[in-house]
Amino acid sequence: MDVIRVKGGRRLTGEVQVAGAKNAALPILFSTLLTDQRCVVGNLPQVQDVRTALRLLSDLGAEVEEDGSTVAITAGEITSSEAPYELVKTMRASFLVLGPLLARLGHARVSQPGGCAIGGRPVNLHLHALQQLGAELDLVHGYTEARADRLRGAEVQLDFPSVGATEHLMMVASLAHGETVIENAAREPEIVDLAAALRSMGADIEGAGEAIVRVRGASQLGGMNHQVLPDRIEAGTFLIAAAMTRGEVVVRGARSGDLHALLVKLREAGAELEERDDAIVARAARRLAGVDIKTLPYPGFPTDLQAQMMALATVSQGTSVITETVFENRFMHANEFLRFGADISLDGHNAVVRGVEQLSGAPVMATDLRASVSLILVGLVADNTTEVRRVYHLDRGYERIEEKLAALGASIERVKGARG
Ligand code: EPZ
Repeated sequence: MDVIRVKGGRRLTGEVQVAGAKNAALPILFSTLLTDQRCVVGNLPQVQDVRTALRLLSDLGAEVEEDGSTVAITAGEITSSEAPYELVKTMRASFLVLGPLLARLGHARVSQPGGCAIGGRPVNLHLHALQQLGAELDLVHGYTEARADRLRGAEVQLDFPSVGATEHLMMVASLAHGETVIENAAREPEIVDLAAALRSMGADIEGAGEAIVRVRGASQLGGMNHQVLPDRIEAGTFLIAAAMTRGEVVVRGARSGDLHALLVKLREAGAELEERDDAIVARAARRLAGVDIKTLPYPGFPTDLQAQMMALATVSQGTSVITETVFENRFMHANEFLRFGADISLDGHNAVVRGVEQLSGAPVMATDLRASVSLILVGLVADNTTEVRRVYHLDRGYERIEEKLAALGASIERVKGARG
């Protein structure tokens, strides 16, 4: 397994281009199953999860033509309606093929995803919503088996504004008979992007990005033509890295509207942020102040930037209280931060972080995607060398991040095949 080796102490300066958003790309790619027409999706990030999604689509019978960050997918004839355990266990978002397969074929058999490092990750909201649209579901030997002669629109109230359940519903409702109203829908920018992709296929969707989304089903959908939006989490990660290293970085592609909660907190901490049409510039001339963070569904502070903000908090002036309300076990990175000499005390959903002047580089272990990048952020400011192991977590969602950070002046390298 590869190891990422970082030598701390360098200020980040320069310009970095943000890739397409992984968390929009995945549901958008699975939406191509809703039509037998040719779909073109651009600005895809070159990350492991996208490669996994394309492999699954191909296994289901779709034709996949890749050209750099653009892919053409034609699910003209779906030859399988099954997403196997071996694949779903590597990427739980694969579960989202259940609805499109059901809408297209009338049946589907998809391995029910298990938990992951950050929590139990149940899919009860997805399943209950699909049943309300007329799906008959059974759980047999770990697989969700779904059948539906004709899906019909319904009024669905989500108990929690689940991103995945909202995406699942929007995709299925686009081919259901009649109108579906999704109440308490997730409002993330990735939801808005998925709706735009579905509308390019002829879907009739209103209100994406708001708490109530209306979908009027069509009898069939045409081909998609869509450019995936920039990844706000990657963008936010670079803004935090610039602030932590007291550098100056132009994050090209970052969209202020998608990152409002982060910008407010970074400014409160003392960073200087300049919002341009096609970029955000982050500067910090001195050590930042600790700030309190509480993660919430969008537009609240994003849980996917919690670990990165905790990394910043470990070297900020004063104390930060970080509360994680979205996932039940998303503080694993805190235990690894202690190895650097960070001062953190955990109590259930709360982490109290007392900033220290200097951290000491150490060998550490990645546990999940966002935790792995936060370990690199600490390595950028810790003294001596930090080695991050199990970087396959990192490669799932970040495109060549060590190259991007090196181009900004970081002393960072990937040691291939090192003892992980
Ligand atoms: C998406 O996961 C993202 N993944 C996550 O990013 C992100 O952290 C999360 O949304 C929240 O923003 C993708 O888009 C591929 P949820 P998702 O359904 O859809 C509970 C990353 O690092 N819940 O909004 O799974 C659930 O357990 C990943 O890129 C149920 O109880 O998130 C969690 O506590 C990590 N039942 C909360 O809701 C359900 O049926 C939020 O989950 C569904 C969810």
